[in-house]
Amino acid sequence: MADATDILVISAHPQMELSRVNRQLHEAASSAERAQVRDLYALYPDYLIDVATEQAALAAAQLVVWLHPIHWYHMPPLMKLWIDEVFTYGWAYGPGGTALQGKDLWLVASTGGPEDSYHPSGYNRYPFDAFLPPYEQTATLCGMRFLPPMVLHGAHRASTAELKTQADTLRERLASYPDWPELEGLEPCLACEVPPSARPPSVAPLPLEAA
Ligand SMILES: Cc1cc2nc3c(=O)[nH]c(=O)nc-3n(C[C@H](O)[C@H](O)[C@H](O)COP(=O)(O)O)c2cc1C
Repeated sequence: MADATDILVISAHPQMELSRVNRQLHEAASSAERAQVRDLYALYPDYLIDVATEQAALAAAQLVVWLHPIHWYHMPPLMKLWIDEVFTYGWAYGPGGTALQGKDLWLVASTGGPEDSYHPSGYNRYPFDAFLPPYEQTATLCGMRFLPPMVLHGAHRASTAELKTQADTLRERLASYPDWPELEGLEPCLACEVPPSARPPSVAPLPLEAA
């Protein structure tokens, strides 16, 4: 039997009130008994992130879900700031930074571009997977397994039935984690140790050259 809330969903949409896709997924996740859902734009409209609270929520989770629309081939800005401030050196990575080791990270995202636009002959030119290495390596550096993402492409044209299917799949996945067929045989996370020599104990800013 899984712990009461062993899943943490970090949900980030700059205009959730206008969302077709992520709002439904957010609501589906919120209905999952095992999940704590944190809506970053609602919690931090001033962008002042409570790092200690976010780290405590992460520490308690086994599965971390990042739920957001793809903006400029990446994540919305508050989600990026959340990583910058919460995944700190000595906590998330680097010497002594073991807080996230052994956890799973799952990206649940949507794109405006249809699937065939993410192709050498399409207007997004690259397969969607080509935009994922920064996500995957962020997870790996912190000792987390990066699970196969769930992406809804062509969000603007997705039918009500497709949106419902996506929400139902998310609900089912959150209920059945970690018993997902695609996790069978998934490699364990690679070890990416940052040597202490990579960062001297205190780095004073270099004096500016006199003009
Ligand atoms: C600022 C901005 C940037 C976007 N960048 C991309 C992009 O790089 N690739 C893409 O396929 N769609 C892009 N889109 C479309 C969004 O991904 C799409 O509107 C979203 O997935 C729909 O989800 P929602 O209904 O929850 O808002 C962008 C949208 C906005 C507002």
